[in-house]
Amino acid sequence: MALDLNNYIASIPDYPEKGIVFRDISPLMADGEAYHQATDQIVQFAKDKGVEMIVGPEARGFIVGCPVAYELGVGFAPARKKGKLPRQTVEASYDLEYGTSSLYMHKDAVMPGQRVLVVDDLLATGGTIGATIDLVHQLGGEVVGCAFMIELSELHGRDKIKDYNVLSLMKY
Ligand code: PRP
Ligand code: ADE
Repeated sequence: MALDLNNYIASIPDYPEKGIVFRDISPLMADGEAYHQATDQIVQFAKDKGVEMIVGPEARGFIVGCPVAYELGVGFAPARKKGKLPRQTVEASYDLEYGTSSLYMHKDAVMPGQRVLVVDDLLATGGTIGATIDLVHQLGGEVVGCAFMIELSELHGRDKIKDYNVLSLMKY
């Protein structure tokens, strides 16, 4: 029987600041069966899309993306925060609540024409995933889908990725 993955998300009120309910995937990751089920659901979503590469943003996108890449037998490329990648990079900036931030990928991380699934633990405003998609496009990759464990529906991040096939395993 399938598990209810909602039972493996911890909700922490007023973290990291007052008014935010932090949705923590640590209990899901800590349970082998739940982590495997979540991974498998994303793998099934990817299967008919001819995915050739997984891309995920630092840091929690790695936790979701790497096991999916492993199961599919394809590669994983990280989108990283400033100053982490040693070779030539492309950059995409995105809005935070106050100010902006940037993500980077190595220039050879995705090949032109490669079919990419972009993954992260959580979709909130969509800024992070938007920047990740921008990076893939700068490298000439084709984004064939986006997958998240959690979507915070009230923040309307989906509006930023309405041109894509989107999977979210849980909605809050
Ligand atoms: C969190 C989360 C997503 C992003 C979602 O990452 O893991 O990547 O926020 O928010 P958005 O849709 O409004 O962009 P965070 O930037 O906290 O980094 P971390 O994974 O390194 O903790
Ligand atoms: N990233 C952005 N908003 C978040 C939230 N409410 N919980 C966990 N990660 C987040």
